[in-house]
Amino acid sequence: MRQIVYISTASRALAPAEVDRILTVSQANNRRDGITGLLYFDGRRFLQAIEGDGPMLDRVLMRIRADDRHRAVVLLSDRSVASREFGSWAMASRHSHDDAEAFLAQVSRLVATASPNVRGTFEGLAAARRAA
Ligand SMILES: Cc1cc2nc3c(=O)[nH]c(=O)nc-3n(C[C@H](O)[C@H](O)[C@H](O)COP(=O)(O)O)c2cc1C
Repeated sequence: MRQIVYISTASRALAPAEVDRILTVSQANNRRDGITGLLYFDGRRFLQAIEGDGPMLDRVLMRIRADDRHRAVVLLSDRSVASREFGSWAMASRHSHDDAEAFLAQVSRLVATASPNVRGTFEGLAAARRAA
């Protein structure tokens, strides 16, 4: 099982409906492609973990990179994991009016089963956003 984590920046202010659409399409595709993971969005940055079959992840990553709703896609890790760290496909997104603590708690819940490194990456970004 292969797992990739990347970070990117929204190319412009995305309306909640646009973010919802990314989630809906990703959810349908990922179910079809056997991909699990987590998409984090705090209004500015995306942080995403995707895991699944190796060659399939290459294809998904190619589609993701080609999407002009975000830019500066930087791979943070690309490794093989003994088994899935995310049981399903989920998204944590925070809109400007959402409570920072509640968002951090939501992210922590979603990464509870991930390895310490991956957990730290997600929680670290959420905590940094809370402080900013
Ligand atoms: C931040 C971000 C994350 C995305 N994550 C996924 C994903 O996990 N799986 C996926 O299939 N598409 C994802 N997409 C959407 C793809 O970029 C693309 O729009 C979609 O795969 C096209 O699907 P279609 O070829 O079925 O129309 C993501 C897009 C963005 C901007």
